[in-house]
Amino acid sequence: MPLAATRTTTSSGCPGTGVGRVRRRGVPASRTRACMSVMTVMTPVIFCGYAAGGYGGPTDRPRGRPELRRRRMRILLLGASGYVGGALWSDWSVRHTVVGTRSARAVPGLIPLDLRDVGALRTLLLDSGFDLVVHAAGLVDLADAERRPDLAMELNAGSVQTLREAVRGTGTRILLLSTDNVFDGVADVYTESSARAPVNAYGRSKSVAEDFLAGEDGHLVVRIPLVYGRSVFADRFMARFARPRTAARTDVVCAPLYLPWLAGALEELWDGEGVFHLGGAQVVTRFELMAGVRDALDLPTEVVAVRGDDPAPAPRRPARLVLRSERHRLLGPGLDQALADLRRHRVSDR
Ligand SMILES: NC(=O)c1ccc[n+]([C@@H]2O[C@H](COP(=O)([O-])OP(=O)(O)OC[C@H]3O[C@@H](n4cnc5c(N)ncnc54)[C@H](OP(=O)(O)O)[C@@H]3O)[C@@H](O)[C@H]2O)c1
Repeated sequence: MPLAATRTTTSSGCPGTGVGRVRRRGVPASRTRACMSVMTVMTPVIFCGYAAGGYGGPTDRPRGRPELRRRRMRILLLGASGYVGGALWSDWSVRHTVVGTRSARAVPGLIPLDLRDVGALRTLLLDSGFDLVVHAAGLVDLADAERRPDLAMELNAGSVQTLREAVRGTGTRILLLSTDNVFDGVADVYTESSARAPVNAYGRSKSVAEDFLAGEDGHLVVRIPLVYGRSVFADRFMARFARPRTAARTDVVCAPLYLPWLAGALEELWDGEGVFHLGGAQVVTRFELMAGVRDALDLPTEVVAVRGDDPAPAPRRPARLVLRSERHRLLGPGLDQALADLRRHRVSDR
């Protein structure tokens, strides 16, 4: 059932980021800027059954506009062995030519690459003529980033600077996966034009990474919230249920995103430019999310309700992070729909 949504948005950009502009590929930057004071973004949202991936996915998921789906993209996916990257890898590989990288995790078919190896990164880019580099690699764990802020900055931000230099003038565009942790967690919702104010080392490194793309045409930053669901190589979220008990905060609120929905949503966005937010439809506490998954899958794991800081070294976790967009109408499935999908796929796995 194809649905079309029209939305009017301003193009003044995000205060403090400089990366809020919207431009369609093939349109000269100068012409785009001239007509960008107010522009209309057509966001046709096409729903159809889930076909790719083999690890679950909602029935109502964005599949990309038909003209984009027909175009086979050459994609370099940094961090394909990770939790998010693995899901993107298995989904996009069906329709696009995807070269994926890994670091410590030995996954057959993925190219070993250390983000700090500037020469290797440049060689990979120069040799292959990619349309898009999707950056889903780096140091993501909040506590680890707090312990090793320099490493977080080097991996999460330094690599983006290297990439930007390497693709300049080649026509290759960068899609950086960023995070809601660039915000402080005091506002009701955050849109693309909200001011950033990270309160932890991870958020600061991602905010600097975003800045590296701010002055360049053509690149995208897509901020995503906490992601949940299954993934192929590093099933980090589901791994929490392998323990007899797992703690979950009742005082941290988010609008989490169901992972199998993400690949299609990024396909909808990747012809744009600047900062985009993707959020889940439902606002829940971390405890509600974890208990919901446990109940949906009839798992024996005890989900322990906790308040206050996580165990030391406690990362400062913003209390409320709800991402919403003023640039498009995509919204990830609500918890009930996502959990039904998760359950359906578990049953069909048996
Ligand atoms: N997960 C979430 O809830 C969430 C929320 C918001 C934003 N994000 C963003 O989504 C992206 C992916 O996150 P994730 O959850 O998938 O993280 P992840 O599971 O920890 O995956 C990280 C990826 O980075 C690779 N990597 C680590 N160190 C590297 C290095 N030195 N050189 C090259 N590659 C390296 C890892 O490779 P190996 O595994 O092979 O070592 C892995 O492929 C990140 O940009 C993150 O900021 C994630």
